[in-house]
Amino acid sequence: MKVCIVGASGKLGKYMVQHALDRGYEVVGVCRERSVGKLDAFKGRITVIPGATNDREVIKKAVAGCDGVLTVLVPWGVHQYSSGTAQAVLDHARLGARLIFSCGWHITRDGQDVYSRTFKAAVKAVGWLARLVRAVDIDDQVEACRRVFASDTRWTVVRGSDLEEGESQGLPVWSRHVGDPILKSNMTRRVDFALFMVEALENDELIHEAPAIVGCRTPSALAHAAAVGPGHDR
Ligand SMILES: NC(=O)c1ccc[n+]([C@@H]2O[C@H](COP(=O)([O-])OP(=O)(O)OC[C@H]3O[C@@H](n4cnc5c(N)ncnc54)[C@H](OP(=O)(O)O)[C@@H]3O)[C@@H](O)[C@H]2O)c1
Repeated sequence: MKVCIVGASGKLGKYMVQHALDRGYEVVGVCRERSVGKLDAFKGRITVIPGATNDREVIKKAVAGCDGVLTVLVPWGVHQYSSGTAQAVLDHARLGARLIFSCGWHITRDGQDVYSRTFKAAVKAVGWLARLVRAVDIDDQVEACRRVFASDTRWTVVRGSDLEEGESQGLPVWSRHVGDPILKSNMTRRVDFALFMVEALENDELIHEAPAIVGCRTPSALAHAAAVGPGHDR
C-alpha cells in the first residue's frame, strides 16, 4: 500500500506517518517548505514533497500512484486553503483510491447532528475571532467537506472531538451523529485520531461515512459498551 499524507508535518500528520510506517506502507508526505525539518525523525523512511497543500501541481505529483490519501483539512488563511486542498486531492488521486479527510465535529453531513449550546457558542466565537484576525476561515473547511460529500470518490470524512495528547488508548469509537450518547465525553487522544484515519484506509464500511469519533476509554464510550454488552464496539 502506498499512501500520501497531506499535511504530514502537523501534530496529526506526524502520528499518521508513524502509524502508516508501522503498517509497512510506503509513505509520501506533503508539507510546507518551511516545515520539512519537522519530519526529520522520518528521514530516509518517507518521501517528502514540499509545497502548499492547495497547490494542484504539488498534490498531483504527491498522490501519483497512491492507493490511499490521508488529508488534514485545516481552515488556515482566507485564501481557500482547505477547499483548494480538498479539490486538488479529489481531482488528482487515482480512480478507486481511498481518500480520508480530517475535520472536527462542527462539520455536519446531513444536518442531523445535535450540538450543545456551549459547543455552538464556542464554534461561533472561534469563527468570529478568526475572521477578525484573518488567520482562519472555518467556512472554507465547511466548503471543503461539502465538496468531498458531493464527490463520487471513495471518501471518508473523520470528524474529531476535542483532542488531547497522551499515550494511545486504542481505536476510537464512532457514531454518525454528534449528540449521540456514546460521544458525550467529547475527548480523543490525538494519536488515536490518527490511528482511526489510517485504519479507515482498509475499512470499506467507512466509505461515504462521516464518523464522529471519541476515545474508546472515555466515560461515554465505556458506558455505551457496558450497555450493549461484549462484542459490540459501538
Ligand atoms: N485541535 C483540535 O482540538 C481539533 C479538534 C477536532 C478536530 N480537529 C481536526 O484535526 C485536524 C488536525 O488539527 P490539529 O489542530 O491537531 O492541527 P495539526 O495536526 O497540528 O495540523 C495543523 C496543520 O496546519 C498546517 N498549518 C499551520 N499553519 C498554517 C498556515 N498558516 N498555512 C497553511 N497551513 C498551516 C500545519 O502545517 P505546518 O506543519 O507546515 O505548520 C499542519 O499541517 C484538523 O483537521 C482539525 O480540523 C482538531
